[in-house]
Amino acid sequence: MTKRKIITLPGDGIGKIVLDEAIRVLDASGFEAEYVHGDIGWEFWKKEGNPLPERTIRLIEQHKTVLFGAITSKPRDEALDELAPELQDKGLVYSSPIVGLRQHFGLDICLRPCRSYKGNPLNFIRRKADHTIEEPGIDVVIFRQNTEGLYSGVEWSNPPEKVYEALRTHPKFVKNFGTIPPEEISVSTRIFSQRATERILQAAFNHALRYNYKSVTLCEKPNVIRETSGMMYRMAKKIQQSEFPQIELWNTNIDAQMMWLTKNPEIYGVIVAGNMFGDIVSDAFAGLIGGLGFACSAQYNPDSGVAIFEPTHGSAPKYAGYPVSIVNPVAMIESACMMLESVDEPQKALKIRKAVAEVISEGKVRTYDMKKLPGTPDVCKKGAASTRQMSDAIIEKML
Ligand code: NAI
Ligand code: MG
Repeated sequence: MTKRKIITLPGDGIGKIVLDEAIRVLDASGFEAEYVHGDIGWEFWKKEGNPLPERTIRLIEQHKTVLFGAITSKPRDEALDELAPELQDKGLVYSSPIVGLRQHFGLDICLRPCRSYKGNPLNFIRRKADHTIEEPGIDVVIFRQNTEGLYSGVEWSNPPEKVYEALRTHPKFVKNFGTIPPEEISVSTRIFSQRATERILQAAFNHALRYNYKSVTLCEKPNVIRETSGMMYRMAKKIQQSEFPQIELWNTNIDAQMMWLTKNPEIYGVIVAGNMFGDIVSDAFAGLIGGLGFACSAQYNPDSGVAIFEPTHGSAPKYAGYPVSIVNPVAMIESACMMLESVDEPQKALKIRKAVAEVISEGKVRTYDMKKLPGTPDVCKKGAASTRQMSDAIIEKML
């Protein structure tokens, strides 16, 4: 039988390090696959003037399932300076390859689970009325619309005539903006389509049903952003009533949600939001379960089946060159577990998560972030585990 092929895109910096560790853990779980390397990231921008080479796109089209480490992005001017001399005056413009992948493959569903591990010293704790401390168990899954809204890049400074005209001639908009010259205005639009909104809502409700969450919370701001958030709320109500009556629909405003975050995070199950609010709410919940060393994600297109699994953190360049790596591999390992679930290997995902849970609750092997130590190169001498020691400990629990 031919082995299943998984594309690996290590990218830059610590992306390469944590991806290697995740594959060792996958091997130890008994998962069998052929890993096919794809080029992506800063190195290819510098050498080829394209951080997302066409050959990598072809590979993903062919095999669909991708484990992604992290990439380095830099501002446009800096990017231009680092281009190979022969590419300097070709008019090349840097753009982030992860955003490029999202757009090219229409990865409109982004899923970010935030589950606390018992015994993780980075877990959120709360003081009760009697001054004792309690540690609520958090199990939240955020569904973020990944391609539209404020991040879709429909924006202008000094907007073109038609856009300016729309402001100047609208009876309501004219009051605030109609007298400001266009060259003094910047516009970033927030466009939601019904199709994409329906897809993210369906994904959220289906997930709630499949994994027994009792509620789906829409986290937007429909009382103020009446058109986009309002449409999403109306559609959510309709979908809930007609297709998912057994699941409760809750509605929170993003600002209030940030306040309630530390008050009662344990009551939430599935949360669904547009692009920017989804980004915010998922980072916020990730902070309650240990932060970047623990935050994993999946981005996928349900139609084509293309799916990218990646930790939420970036390439952490300041840690990338350490002779012994100190970063926490759990976020990448958790992302690999999400990949296992997507390829119908939930038992192996369970096995890995159980091993991670044991290592964390035992507390003998902890990376610098879990030790709350500054990430200096000598931190392992102060009792922190290296990246390798952390994944070794996880692997040992599976033997
Ligand atoms: P970052 O996530 O790379 O690092 C921020 C800080 O978080 C680190 O300095 C470290 O203290 C901590 N951290 C990150 N990963 C960790 C881990 N696995 N274990 C323990 N601690 C960890 O974000 P930063 O520094 O803002 O960006 C660095 C580069 O990464 C930039 O070029 C940025 O554009 C890129 N980036 C890429 C992303 C991606 O590939 N999807 C996402 C975010 C940033
Ligand atoms: Mg973010």
